[in-house]
Amino acid sequence: MFVFKTVKELQYFLATVTPSGIGFVPTMGALHQGHISLIEKSQQQNELTVCSIFVNPTQFNKQEDLINYPRNVSADIELLQCLDCDNEEKRVVLFLPSENEIYPKKIEKSYDFGNLSLVMEAQHRPGHFNGVAMVIERFFSIINPTNAYFGEKDFQQLAVVRNLVKQLRLPVQIIGCPIVREANGLAMSSRNERLTPEQKEQAANIYKFLLDAKQQAKTLTVGEVKNNFISAIKNIPVLQLEYLEIADGNTLLSINDWSEINYCVAFVAVFVGNVRLIDNVTLYKD
Ligand code: PAJ
Repeated sequence: MFVFKTVKELQYFLATVTPSGIGFVPTMGALHQGHISLIEKSQQQNELTVCSIFVNPTQFNKQEDLINYPRNVSADIELLQCLDCDNEEKRVVLFLPSENEIYPKKIEKSYDFGNLSLVMEAQHRPGHFNGVAMVIERFFSIINPTNAYFGEKDFQQLAVVRNLVKQLRLPVQIIGCPIVREANGLAMSSRNERLTPEQKEQAANIYKFLLDAKQQAKTLTVGEVKNNFISAIKNIPVLQLEYLEIADGNTLLSINDWSEINYCVAFVAVFVGNVRLIDNVTLYKD
């Protein structure tokens, strides 16, 4: 597998191979099957896939989180090498830039994503999506991908990226990919590495309760479904709910009554000890 550490090397390579389509999968490393599913999707749809690993400092609102973010590039490379990376019909290359390559100048950009900049992750992690947008805009300008792949695990991020592409009229198609879960239902995440085995088991309840909510959405009111979820989480001492929102899957505006919308998603952020996890489940879509 080719590994590029500078913008210049990567761009030289892209100009030389001129693939019919470039798929781009941005990541922050500590790769797991969730990331791999995006790369495999890209391999099905593009002759060349660029996977990036870059722990983007501008999207961390807490310095401590940035420092503690798991980094293990050699394990990541090993995992990527299982993907038939050098097959010319579905080649995967790795872009591993330094901070200087991505942010050669200290610039601060400011984006407005309307409601998406105000709710849920935006509210609890101020500046987070501004940092995500900055790095994605920069990556898109370096790689100029045909398609870019993002997981529904970070549903709001996917919405923000779609909005960014629309605002800037960028010629890239954004492809959302389904959440990959552990056998017990826990959404895969690089942060799961920081959970003890018991915490992991308890954390599986988050998905279980979201599925209960999906079931209850058929008969109970929005308020009742929310209350049941909140009580269920309270019954598990190691879980602490930061937010639960039942919202429109398109606008991410929260709702009070099912009749308001036809695409409804439940979103949660839950602390397991000091590890913050997010998850979501579509309650209905018609
Ligand atoms: P990271 O958390 O490494 O995630 C990279 C991509 O993998 C994101 O699109 C995320 O939604 C997707 N992903 C993570 N876990 C997943 C799962 N269990 N199932 C499906 N997809 C999953 O998200 C980021 O990095 C960063 O914000 C980034 C977009 C790279 C910008 O810095």
